[in-house]
Amino acid sequence: MRPLIGTSWKMHLTASQAVQYLQTLRPLVADLTDRDLFVLPAYPAIPVAREQLDGSNIAWGAQDVHPEDWGAHTGDVSAPMLADLGCRYVEVGHSERRREHGETTDVVARKIAAVARWGMTPILSIGDQHRHGPQAALAELMPSLERLLAGLPRESLGDLVIAYEPAWAIGEGAAPASPEEVGAVLRELRASPLLKGVEASGVRLIYGGSVDQSIAEEMLSQPCVDGLFIGRQGLDPYTFAALARTPCCMSHSEP
Ligand code: PGA
Repeated sequence: MRPLIGTSWKMHLTASQAVQYLQTLRPLVADLTDRDLFVLPAYPAIPVAREQLDGSNIAWGAQDVHPEDWGAHTGDVSAPMLADLGCRYVEVGHSERRREHGETTDVVARKIAAVARWGMTPILSIGDQHRHGPQAALAELMPSLERLLAGLPRESLGDLVIAYEPAWAIGEGAAPASPEEVGAVLRELRASPLLKGVEASGVRLIYGGSVDQSIAEEMLSQPCVDGLFIGRQGLDPYTFAALARTPCCMSHSEP
């Protein structure tokens, strides 16, 4: 299992700023061959990512997608459009989209299916609303996870990333979950019947929510944490490069 470290720029960085960022980042991480890296720009900067990152060890992708492939959906972007731009990853289900756009579990499930149908890897973001400990988090997350994955063929499971991103740990003023909390949630998730079995062995479980350099190494040293999903700290290419270089010795995902 190769560690996966990536960033979503959310609604930051114009296409012009993305050129600068990616030209800075690329040489800083070019020697990292033991892990997978990605950036998720806003839609207008995705073609820039394709231009700047082609042939590099950094994949690119999108932060959202419409569940349908084509049609009269003003302002939306579909999976075939993202696949055409070389996107490898597409994030779905982030708590900011659920909150600001009213996305339901059923809509997110259809988005995962669209991403998989077009040969890209869904990064499914799930998270508990309030901090009541790992057991409460799992009780909140498991039923919707079952619904979210129900429409996905078992053989597509291996190419899935599940990002545990507690809503309470995300954004300005929030503090990250502790590595022990994250480890406990992801260990149970890994051991759950939903992810047991050959098809699911490639699923990567990563953590997002106020990740910074003070916590990255300890987070990655948890046995079931396969990677990091970085928000604010990814907006500076030097800081993201430093996080991408977090030491990790991976014998991971053994429940
Ligand atoms: P943050 O965002 O690192 O800025 O808290 C994380 C996320 O949304 O996953």
